[in-house]
Amino acid sequence: MAGQGLATQLLSHIESHWKEEEGKQSPLPSPSPPPVTIFTTTIPSNTAMIKILDKLNYKLQGHVAYWPPSSVVETITKGGQTLKDLILPFASQDALQLTDSWRPALSISDLESVLIDIRNRTTTTNYNRISEEDSLHNNNNNNNINNKLLSSWLPHDYSVYPPTYLEDSLGHQHDGATTCRVFILDDDNDDDNSSSSSSSSSNKAVVVINQGYVEDLWFAGIVATSPVALETAALKAVDIDPGCSILYVDRCECFETCDLLQSHGGSSLYSVYYKHV
Ligand SMILES: CC(C)(COP(=O)(O)OP(=O)(O)OC[C@H]1O[C@@H](n2cnc3c(N)ncnc32)[C@H](O)[C@@H]1OP(=O)(O)O)[C@@H](O)C(=O)NCCC(=O)NCCS
Repeated sequence: MAGQGLATQLLSHIESHWKEEEGKQSPLPSPSPPPVTIFTTTIPSNTAMIKILDKLNYKLQGHVAYWPPSSVVETITKGGQTLKDLILPFASQDALQLTDSWRPALSISDLESVLIDIRNRTTTTNYNRISEEDSLHNNNNNNNINNKLLSSWLPHDYSVYPPTYLEDSLGHQHDGATTCRVFILDDDNDDDNSSSSSSSSSNKAVVVINQGYVEDLWFAGIVATSPVALETAALKAVDIDPGCSILYVDRCECFETCDLLQSHGGSSLYSVYYKHV
C-alpha cells in the first residue's frame, strides 16, 4: 500500500474538509470560504512525509529544537535530579541576570506583537538558508504565497499551535496570585537598537509552560532570539514549574545552536511547515 498516494489523498481531503468547516463558522456569508493557514510538522528524516508536503505545496517555516534527549529525561528523573540541574551549569552570567526581567503576557495581542517582533529578527541570511533547505520547492511554485516567517504559532511537543489557544490562561488573577504561565522577556536595549530590526544580538524571548499530549509531561515552549535569551528562558521555565522536563525551542533561525542545546547528548529537531488554503 505504501507509495500509492493514499496519504497524499488523505491529507488533501482533510484540507478540503477543514476549509469547508472554517467557511461554515465565518460570520459573513461569502462565495468562497476565508483563507486559513494550516501548520504541520515532521522530522527531517521522514522523506516520505516531506514528499507528501511538497506535493501539496506546503512551505518550510522553520525548525524547533527539543532538548534534552528522552533518555536523559528518564535518567535525571530516576536520579532525583531536575532539569534545572542540567541547565544551571550552562547559564551565563547575562542569562542569570535576566531572570528578574520577565513579565507575564497580558493578552493575546501582547503575545502576538512580541512574536511578530521576534520572528522579524530572523536575519535575511538565515532566512535564505532555511528557504534553500526547503529544496523540494522551486521558485515557479506558489508565487502568490507570502513566504515570510509567520508569527502565529508557538512550539508544542512535536507540533505547533496558535497563540489564541492560550486565551483562557493569560493575565488571569486568582486569589491575588497570577495563574498565567506565559511569560515575555522584553529587551531593555531594544529601543536603542530599533533601527536594526533584524538584529539577532538582542535578548528577547517568550516562554510558555504547557502539558504534553502523550505522557502528560510538563514542558516549555520557548521562542528566543539568542543563546542568552534561551538560557534565561530555560531558567524561567524551571522556575515557573520545577516539574518541567523538556524544552521545545524555536530559535527563529537567529542562531544556529548553543552550549545548552549541545549538552547532555544534544538536541533533535522537528520541522514546521505551513500552507494557506
Ligand atoms: C509517511 C506515510 C504516511 C506515507 O504514506 P504513503 O501512503 O506511502 O504516502 P504517499 O504514497 O501519498 O506518498 C509518499 C511519497 O513518499 C515516497 N516514499 C515512501 N516511502 C519512502 C521512503 N522510505 N523513502 C523515500 N520516499 C518514500 C513515495 O514513493 C511517495 O512519493 P512519490 O509520490 O514521489 O511516489 C507512511 O509511510 C506512514 O504512515 N509512515 C509512518 C507514520 C508517519 O511517518 N507519519 C507521518 C508523521 S509526520
